[in-house]
Amino acid sequence: MKFLVINGSNLNMLGIREPDIYGRHTYDELVRMIKAHAEEKKVEVSFMQSNHEGDLVDAIQQAFFDKVDGIIINPGAYTHTSIAILDAVKAVNIPTVEVHISDVDAREEFRKVSYIRLAAVKTIAGKGFEGYNLAMDFLIDYLGEKH
Ligand code: DQA
Repeated sequence: MKFLVINGSNLNMLGIREPDIYGRHTYDELVRMIKAHAEEKKVEVSFMQSNHEGDLVDAIQQAFFDKVDGIIINPGAYTHTSIAILDAVKAVNIPTVEVHISDVDAREEFRKVSYIRLAAVKTIAGKGFEGYNLAMDFLIDYLGEKH
């Protein structure tokens, strides 16, 4: 199984940005944690981070041509605004889990809106970095049941 982990806007600033909300670990540490989990689970994983909406759309489209089996995505603030990212996930029709480090439903009203949720097979929020590993476990089970 081949997974792609996409992180959107400001997630490259992990460890620096609002540590009370997002913790003190960096984006590189996040990547290392997910890689170790993927090795344990014997699945392939690649990573992409961008602050630009169109680049995120391109990465989702590319996943189709790369025959990615599952996408784990934290679009950052684009979660709450981007119909383009929603449409990209719908277009490629690859099982996608939406992940948020913080509990978006317990924060400001505007964070309760998620466009990508409409196309996601699952949402994991408020579990910190561990949410990405939980998303991978979910996709492994989900894809295992489908095949
Ligand atoms: C976030 C939550 C979003 O509301 C915010 O804009 C982010 C990060 C999270 O991981 O908790 O950038 O997606």
